[in-house]
Amino acid sequence: MLVIRVAVVGTGAMGKGIVEVIRKFDDMEVVAIADINQNALDQTVPYLKGEALVTKSARAGLPDKPWNPVLLSDHTEISTDNRKMN
Ligand SMILES: NC(=O)c1ccc[n+]([C@@H]2O[C@H](COP(=O)([O-])OP(=O)(O)OC[C@H]3O[C@@H](n4cnc5c(N)ncnc54)[C@H](O)[C@@H]3O)[C@@H](O)[C@H]2O)c1
Repeated sequence: MLVIRVAVVGTGAMGKGIVEVIRKFDDMEVVAIADINQNALDQTVPYLKGEALVTKSARAGLPDKPWNPVLLSDHTEISTDNRKMN
């Protein structure tokens, strides 16, 4: 099965909701969440389905496993971005 692996940058109201929705899809997986606010990360971790990188810095990079879009939900915009988190 093709699995869409996603990194979510910004885990406030929208980002947390996105993570919560993604967990309902068998063919989607959040591989990383990033937020400068530790509290926002802590509130989102329970909605992760599996193992994921949890980081205060999107510059920390991602694990070696393949991944696809980055969802930005950090007040710049909500968008998908195929670049690596760097
Ligand atoms: N809440 C809504 O109903 C709604 C609806 C449509 C669009 N939006 C848009 O979605 C975006 C996010 O809104 P929200 O309501 O989730 O805001 P929010 O304030 O709840 O969450 C934003 C999060 O981004 C984090 N953040 C800020 N800068 C960051 C950075 N450099 N790296 C990582 N994390 C960073 C903040 O710490 C915060 O947790 C905004 O652009 C907003 O306009 C929100």
